[in-house]
Amino acid sequence: MCGIVGYLGNKDAVPILLNGLHRLEYRGYDSAGIAVIANNQIQYVKNAGKVSELSKLIDDSVINGSIGIGHTRWATHGEPNTINSHPHFDRTGNISLIHNGIIENYSSIKEVLSKKGFEFQSETDTEVLVQLISEIYYSDGLNFEQSVQAALNQVVGAYGIVAFCADEPNKLVAARHGSPLVIGIGDDEYFVASDASPIVEYTRNVIYLDEGEIVTITKSGYEIRSISDDRVINKISTEIELSIDQIEKGEFPHHMLKEIHEQVHTITDTMRGRIDPSDGSAHLGGISDQIDRIKSAHRIYITACGTSWHAGLIGKYLIEEYARIPVHVEYASEFRYRSPIIDNKTVVIAISQSGETADTLAAIDKAKEFGALTLGICNVVGSSIARKTDCGVYTHAGPEIGVASTKAFTSQVAVLFLLSLCFSRDKGPTGKNFSEALLNIGDHVKEILKNTKTIDKVADLTFKSENFLYLGRGMNFPVALEGALKLKEISYIHAEGYPAAEMKHGPIALIDENMPVVFIAPNDETYSKVLSNIQQVKARDGIVITLTDNKTNELKKVSDYIIEVPKANHPRIFPILASISLQLLAYKLAVLRECDIDHPRNLAKSVTVE
Ligand code: F6R
Repeated sequence: MCGIVGYLGNKDAVPILLNGLHRLEYRGYDSAGIAVIANNQIQYVKNAGKVSELSKLIDDSVINGSIGIGHTRWATHGEPNTINSHPHFDRTGNISLIHNGIIENYSSIKEVLSKKGFEFQSETDTEVLVQLISEIYYSDGLNFEQSVQAALNQVVGAYGIVAFCADEPNKLVAARHGSPLVIGIGDDEYFVASDASPIVEYTRNVIYLDEGEIVTITKSGYEIRSISDDRVINKISTEIELSIDQIEKGEFPHHMLKEIHEQVHTITDTMRGRIDPSDGSAHLGGISDQIDRIKSAHRIYITACGTSWHAGLIGKYLIEEYARIPVHVEYASEFRYRSPIIDNKTVVIAISQSGETADTLAAIDKAKEFGALTLGICNVVGSSIARKTDCGVYTHAGPEIGVASTKAFTSQVAVLFLLSLCFSRDKGPTGKNFSEALLNIGDHVKEILKNTKTIDKVADLTFKSENFLYLGRGMNFPVALEGALKLKEISYIHAEGYPAAEMKHGPIALIDENMPVVFIAPNDETYSKVLSNIQQVKARDGIVITLTDNKTNELKKVSDYIIEVPKANHPRIFPILASISLQLLAYKLAVLRECDIDHPRNLAKSVTVE
């Protein structure tokens, strides 16, 4: 949700900023811009469209300087045109600012400034903030960082910002309240960014700004203070574990495909050292202090958004089956505004790849307010959700750059497998078989990736369809939802996921010879029921695509295509494997429809606004 990058050092800032924006583009790609200070003047280039278009414009212009800021935008206030793109400027053109987040009280501030004669070029809340900083700077006798701080103390909302001023040209000021910022410390150079990806090739030494902190960076160093009370905050730098290979596409045409392939090892990485196949138990260091409280919980809520919410639905089946604790799964955006029944016997599990999703963060606040124990399942180490929750488990799937979540989802499900084993009061043969089967998952993933012939064929024959239906029962109902979501977001084909048996209560009306219906039909207790649902679709001429690990003659008779899912030695592994086949199907359909797979329209990774 908007990518921010800043540089101060001895090198030309422009290529560093552009490179950083390319790396951050997964956070938003409606428009992009950079600004630098040279000869005590701000120069800038900004443009609606992607960073590649900005690069072309920069090639044709003379812009350079050794201090600069850059931004790639996901529009919140105002359409994604050039005027609304960042950086924004004050009325003198001497102060410039980039911002991720939303200033909620921008209209009242704008009204006050307008009465004082300020004029605004854009429709954005960000321009209001930079004009407010300017008003303070040029009238209150404060230096630049004090002016930024004074302005921030007047705003309500969420922000990660970086600002600079041509009157104090060797200084970057950055601040965080609700949107992450990382400071990179190199040799005589400093970086600021929304995450570590633009920094990693220059330095591994970083400091994560915490909520409510402002940093002033000059060539001689940096100083971090509290925005509200001006206290100096001393922080120790840490080393980033990220490598360049992890954030580049390598030989793959898209990050999404690379991440689908990485599942050969990521699911096992999630479980490494955490599972003991000898007795079927799981050990999770991040929750061990709280395990007694969790096991005696009266209820569990799982809260999340989008794909992470689908993982949560699978978690409900697993935890209820293995640990026998009632589990409710709620969209974080709903949970935060309801009055759920929460007390100190409640555990609230928040699932988030990014660890920054605004609704999920707010749901955690709500859970804490009512005394629940909060447990985070996050992929990004040190993210806001990881830090806010009382305890937690990292998924360790590695950075996920593709906007459509793939490997993070299967690793979230893997953590939920582990939690269900960990919360389970009785170990024994079932847990043992299950944990053994979990550890073999990588080989099954390899098999799926090696044999994609049927998936390719189905994609070839259906890529012109405008609708798809995905149907599954039990744990495979969330798999159907996730399959449909993947297809929608990257191919723009309308798709619905439904519990297979619910089809006859409405969606069956949609079925005709043009409707592909994907059935998830594992060899488990739901098999015969799903088979009947398939027959109902076949009888109405629907195109039946069946995913199964049990290719029986009965299934062959009623299916137009059968996508075979490897047989694992435990039935609960099937949903993970089926999800990977569905990721590939969505990917192949999107390729044939010539969609921009890593940058699907209107989307951004990490939704840090409501
Ligand atoms: C879909 C997708 C989104 C995210 C959702 C939550 O492919 O990526 O639906 O799952 O925005 O994001 P996190 O998990 O970062 O909280």
